[in-house]
Amino acid sequence: MTSPITTDLDKCAEVLVAGNLCAIPTETVYGLAADAKNPKAIEQVFRAKNRPADHPLIVHVANLVEAKNWITYLPDWAEKLAKEFWPGPLTLVGLKAQHVSDLITGSQDTVAVRVPSHPVAQKLLIKLADRGITSLVAPSANLFGHVSPTSAKHVELDLGEYLAKHDGAILDGGNCQVGLESTIVLATGSAPIILRPGAITQTEIEKVTGLKVVETAPDKPRVSGSLASHYAPKAQVEIIEQNQLPDEKDAGFIGPSSVNVPAGLTVLLAAFDNEDYASNLYRALRQADELGLTKVYAVLPKDSGLATAIIDRLTRAAN
Ligand code: TXA
Ligand code: MG
Repeated sequence: MTSPITTDLDKCAEVLVAGNLCAIPTETVYGLAADAKNPKAIEQVFRAKNRPADHPLIVHVANLVEAKNWITYLPDWAEKLAKEFWPGPLTLVGLKAQHVSDLITGSQDTVAVRVPSHPVAQKLLIKLADRGITSLVAPSANLFGHVSPTSAKHVELDLGEYLAKHDGAILDGGNCQVGLESTIVLATGSAPIILRPGAITQTEIEKVTGLKVVETAPDKPRVSGSLASHYAPKAQVEIIEQNQLPDEKDAGFIGPSSVNVPAGLTVLLAAFDNEDYASNLYRALRQADELGLTKVYAVLPKDSGLATAIIDRLTRAAN
C-alpha cells in the first residue's frame, strides 16, 4: 500500500473537491478534513474515525467574514475574541445559520467554527476558495477516543489504511506547534463559557472581553473531548506526585524536566516549560504504545494558564 502522505497542496485540494477526505495540519493537532457543504463527504468523516453521529464537528474557515456565514449572531465580546485570536487555536460555538447541516451540529442549534493559523492550512483554504470550497469540517484525525495526532505519521497510523483505500490524503505540514486541541468557547450568552480548555487561556479570554468566564455550562452542549475517558493510549496512564515515582520497568515517565526520574523508568517527556509539555504530550503518549510500555506515570505541570489544558487531557487519558 502506498502512503497517503503528501506535501502537494493541489493534490489535496483535488481530493477534497472530489468529496473525499484529507487530513490537514493545524497549529493545534491534525484534522480530518471534508468539504463542510458536502453531506456525503461529512458522512465519510464519521465512518473513517468510527465516531458516533451525535458528536458535532468544528467548521474551519479562512477568516471572520466567512465564519459569519456559519454563525448567525456573535455577541460583541465574542467578536472581540475572534478579532484578537483568529487565526489561532480558538473555537467559537454560536447560533447556527439556517443552511448548517444537522450532520455537523449533531442536530443542535449551535455550530462550532474556527480559523486555523497553520500556514499550510491557510494556503489550502485559499486554494480551495478558488475551487468553490470555503469551509472544511475537521475533527482531530485520530480514531474515536484515541490520542490526537500531532504529525502526519501519527495520522497515518490511525487512518492511513482508510485514506489509502478511499482516495484520501494526508497533507504533511510538520509537527503541530501547540499540540493540544483548540480552546472551545460557548458564545451564545452574555459571558464566555469555556467548553474545552486549550492554549487560549481563561485569563486571556477575560482580559480581552473584560468579562468573567462563567464556570458552569447551562444545558451541557455535547463536547466529545469532554467524555471522562478520551485522548487515551493503550498504556495505562497514572497521575502521580513526583516524590512517589516508582523505579519500575516497562513503564514511562511524562512530566516537567525538574523532576528526578528513577533510573528504571523510560523518559517519554521531560518538559522544560508548559508550551513544551503541551506540544509533546500526545507524541509522548503514542510513544509509550510504540515502545510497548504498559504504564505511564505522569507528573502534572503547575496549574496556571496552559497547564489547565494539559491537566485536563492527562486526567482524561488516565480515566
Ligand atoms: O484544535 C481543534 O479544535 C482540532 C483541530 C483539527 O481543529 N479539532 C478538534 O475536533 O479537536 P474534534 O472533533 O476532535 O473536537 C471538536 C469538539 C468536540 O468535542 C465537539 O463535541 C465540540 O468540538 N463541538 C462541535 N460542535 C459543537 C457544538 N455545536 N456545541 C458544543 N460543542 C461542539
Ligand atoms: Mg478529537
